[in-house]
Amino acid sequence: MSDLKLGDKAPDFDAETSEGNINFYDYLGDSWGIFFSHPADYTPVCTTELGTVANYKAEFEKRNVKVIALSVDGMESHRGWIKDINETQNTTVNFPIIADEDRKVSDLYGMIHPKADDTLTVRSVFVIAPDKSIKMTLTYPASTGRNFDELLRVIDSLQLTAYNKVATPANWKHGEDVVISPSVSNEEADKMFPKGYKEIRPYLRMTPEPELKK
Ligand code: BEZ
Repeated sequence: MSDLKLGDKAPDFDAETSEGNINFYDYLGDSWGIFFSHPADYTPVCTTELGTVANYKAEFEKRNVKVIALSVDGMESHRGWIKDINETQNTTVNFPIIADEDRKVSDLYGMIHPKADDTLTVRSVFVIAPDKSIKMTLTYPASTGRNFDELLRVIDSLQLTAYNKVATPANWKHGEDVVISPSVSNEEADKMFPKGYKEIRPYLRMTPEPELKK
């Protein structure tokens, strides 16, 4: 089984999807990416997850994120199920779903965890930066639907901290204070953070969220 770690390059692949054949890197282009697997078509939790992701289109676009899903079901199954998702979740699925019947891509990304289920993919998520490095991974069991607000929150943190010498504290949300990286001296912080900062401890300095640089 593949053992992809943070910082690893996301493997490229070609695949058949509900929006035609794609090359993964071409699909992502210069955007951030969310690549997620779900166990099976025509299942209740997956139906709500894919509907939720489709309804978050504007949120992903705002953050320059492209989304792509995968299951080991085939294209005919995907087509029928997408109709169901659209009808039941009041949406239009607006991202490709990979039909990975031969498990080529699932194996490449380690999305099958044989002790959980030896044929179906678990609920994996990979967040991929524009340079194609893996920035976040997450694995949920089949019985637990993911929280896509949390994924947006992580993307906000990743994008903010990629371009500023800050980190985001527990339960942080966009707009709230952030912490200054320990590698930044107070002298540097004075220049870097014009809104000022509060030194609670020498290693714990809070500053208002900086403007998002790109
Ligand atoms: C679901 O999406 O509802 C589901 C899929 C596989 C196992 C259990 C639940």
